Amino acid sequence: MEHYNVNLGDRSYPILLGAGISSNISGELRSRFPGAKFALVTNETLVNIYQKELADWSSELPMVRIAIPDGEQYKTIDTWRSVLDSLLGERLDRKTVIVAFGGGVVGDIAGFAAASFLRGVKYVQIPSTLLAMVDSSVGGKTAVDHKMGKNLVGAFHQPSLVLVDTTFLETLPRREFIAGYAELFKYSFIGGSDMVTFVSSNHKAMVGGDNKALVEGIRRSLAIKARVVESDEREETGARAVLNFGHTFAHAIERFYNFSGILHGEAVLWGIACACDLGLRVGTIPQMELKTYGHLLEILPRVNLPWKPDPEKLYEGMFYDKKVEKGKVNFVLPTEAGSVVIRNDITQEAVLETLNTVFGI
Ligand SMILES: NC(=O)c1ccc[n+]([C@@H]2O[C@H](COP(=O)([O-])OP(=O)(O)OC[C@H]3O[C@@H](n4cnc5c(N)ncnc54)[C@H](O)[C@@H]3O)[C@@H](O)[C@H]2O)c1
Repeated sequence: MEHYNVNLGDRSYPILLGAGISSNISGELRSRFPGAKFALVTNETLVNIYQKELADWSSELPMVRIAIPDGEQYKTIDTWRSVLDSLLGERLDRKTVIVAFGGGVVGDIAGFAAASFLRGVKYVQIPSTLLAMVDSSVGGKTAVDHKMGKNLVGAFHQPSLVLVDTTFLETLPRREFIAGYAELFKYSFIGGSDMVTFVSSNHKAMVGGDNKALVEGIRRSLAIKARVVESDEREETGARAVLNFGHTFAHAIERFYNFSGILHGEAVLWGIACACDLGLRVGTIPQMELKTYGHLLEILPRVNLPWKPDPEKLYEGMFYDKKVEKGKVNFVLPTEAGSVVIRNDITQEAVLETLNTVFGI
């Protein structure tokens, strides 16, 4: 089992990582939170798939189970309220530890419930999607969506433990796996030249489901994310902005399709292709790195779009991004292998040329 620490002073926490480590989840939780009661928050799909595991955890620990409906459309204030209703209905106290078992949706809602229940209780993340394993389970961003936009109501609240067991990926639908892989792939652009080399040489093994390569890819991704979070826990210094690589385009793509027919990670894959094209176009990528980026783009998984997007509308959509400052879009662009630069001076013309090129319009 790998052990990694996110160092945030009195909010520091360990990440445990390995294949099969959840077989000892009860022992792990009991020893790390002596005397606590647990509230497991998960969704209806996972309750069906992991009946036996959940029954074991409930029989071995003082644990109540709260299952929310499955889907981003349920990442709402109503679902968050229903979780709080259940916690209060069970008369749980401040020593309660919430255990989020699921993908990013479950993790974000359970985390926000933990941030707000009785003014804040501890919580544990047990991510079950690749996206949650490499991204959302670490960093303490918790939120629900609002009709005005995604993740608009939430809190920064760090988990007390993250337990990543890659065997949960065995039941994950392939499409969700590739969408999560987009975030892992993203780290090769921001995590230094070592990560570029690792992803370039282990890409095939990872997308093929090779457990050893995946554990290592997830470990490296989490280490990079932890480092960024440690330097900018609450998104105040700007350091956390690098995690947004590919996301300025991705958010506009998701918005264009009205958040339907395309998964977030799928939009990120297109967003990565756009960021690379724009980097080449405006000259942030040095000549000597062309081969490296050429290879990354060659192996970048290709996913279908519902239909060809309209570049003008995509461009307009970029101005709705939360990261727009004083009317200027911050583009995170590739530079030396494994590094990015943030630029807010890119012309509309360059962005439109990129969109036309990438989407073949
Ligand atoms: N907090 C953060 O820092 C952060 C970062 C990135 C994304 N997010 C959020 O994460 C969410 C997306 O997360 P996601 O991609 O994990 O989606 P998700 O939570 O909706 O899960 C995707 C689907 O896979 C199913 N599933 C989960 N684990 C499974 C398993 N092991 N086997 C079979 N099916 C399984 C789920 O039931 C769901 O249908 C978005 O709401 C996004 O805003 C948060």
